[in-house]
Parts: sequence; C-alpha cells; structure tokens
Amino acid sequence: MKTLTLTNKQLHLGNLILVNKEHGILKPSAGTLVPVAYQSDTLLQRQAAALLENLMEQIDGWQYIVPVSGWRSTHEQQQIWDDSLAENGLEFTQTYVAVPGHSEHQTGLAIDLALRQEHIDFICPEFPYEGICQKFREMAPDYGYIERYPKGREAVTGIGHEPWHFRYVGVPHAKIMTENNLVLEEYMDFIKDYEYGSKPYILSINGREISVSYLPMTNTNGTRLMIDDTLIYSISGNNIDGFIMTEWRHAHENKAELMWA
Ligand code: DAL
Ligand code: ZN
Repeated sequence: MKTLTLTNKQLHLGNLILVNKEHGILKPSAGTLVPVAYQSDTLLQRQAAALLENLMEQIDGWQYIVPVSGWRSTHEQQQIWDDSLAENGLEFTQTYVAVPGHSEHQTGLAIDLALRQEHIDFICPEFPYEGICQKFREMAPDYGYIERYPKGREAVTGIGHEPWHFRYVGVPHAKIMTENNLVLEEYMDFIKDYEYGSKPYILSINGREISVSYLPMTNTNGTRLMIDDTLIYSISGNNIDGFIMTEWRHAHENKAELMWA
C-alpha cells in the first residue's frame, strides 16, 4: 500500500473533468498535444489521440472522415464565439458554441468530425447516423469516446444536439455511460453513489475486472488516500468536488501506473 495526496490542482485535471456552462476550465492544461489524422493541424491529448487513431485504423476511417476541430486555445474559442455571434446571432451561438473558458475543446479531449465532402461547415459539420459515421459512433465507446451532446439531452448538457462532437473519457467510463444512457453531467452524479473504499462500481472488459469509484475532496489542502500499489489505476478530478478512481484488477504484474492524462 502507499499513500497518495490529491491536491486541489488535480481536481481540475484528468479524462473525466466536466466542462460545461457551470464548470469552466480553471487550470488550462491540456497535457501533451499531438496531431491526429496523419499530421493534420488538429491536436488532441496524447492518450485521446492514440485511441482515436486505433479506432480509425479499424474502420479505415480517415479515408471518409475529416477532423474539423480538436484542441482550441481560449483565444481561438473566443474568436469562434465572436465570429459566430456576428454571423449567426446569439441564440444559434449559445446553442452550438461554448462560452470561452467553458469549451471541452480547450481540454484537448474533444474533437469534431465530418464526413469527407467538398463543403464542410466548421461549426455544424455533417456527421450522419448512417454509413461510416455511424460505424464510428457505435465503436467509439470501445475506444473511450462518447457522443457528448445527444438529441433530447439539450437541457442537461446546455448545448444543442451535436452529432459531430466526440469527447474522450476513457474506455470503462464511455462504456458505462453508453450502457446506462448517461451524458457526462449525469455520470458525474451517478458515480457518486459508488464510494471509494466501500462500494465501487464493478465491470468486466475482456476478462479484466475494473472498479470505478468516487472519492470526495474532503480537504482543500489535499485529500489523502491509501492505495494498493499492485494495481493499475488512474485518477481523474471531476472539475467540481472530487475524484474518480479507476482500478484494473489482476491485469498486470506487480506494477502501478498513475495516469493523470
Ligand atoms: N461546440 C461545442 C459546444 C464547443 O464550442 O465547445
Ligand atoms: Zn465540438
């Protein structure tokens, strides 16, 4: 066992941070950014990019799908907001563009994708529920991605239906959310019922047992926990008030890895 101290800074880092109208980006830190789709100018966090490339390789996706927008700086998000406001007005802009400082694109964990065709709309690209795009969508949870703004959940996400916007959250979480039909806002509440150390959510993927649990931030100077360092685990802040622990059991020899990304 070893002792870890989770700090206030870490509350705002990790694959599961909730970024929306209520919860902005307090500590802009997108980790290491790398290009996707054969060195395009679209950047994502390294782990998110690697999983996206794996999925695209499986379906020969980059032949038919184009990356439209990945990581954005606050300045870029502001530019997009201002341009859209001038061109499309406030109602449209509030529906399809996050307020600067509140966009998932600023984390390097979100990407907009389009069906490859001559005209591609930058804000609302076409990514239909059929053909190669639907194939991508159906396989996405196995690679840690979710369709972030589904139809019918606009009141919960605060954003209009965006068939083109995918968010990396990590494999077990994308699968749990998909199986339980939860958007990220709902998943953050759902997981609070599974407290770290007492009753984790258990699932099995490819014969590996994975446990997911929630640890509230109890002390702004640092929340301490004991962890079995023979396990592989990752920890993400929720960007609000606690941490999500993910542990892969019996998956590896005596080795622990801590992944903040
Ligand atoms: N289109 C999404 C909501 C963004 O601007 O982050
Ligand atoms: Zn987007």
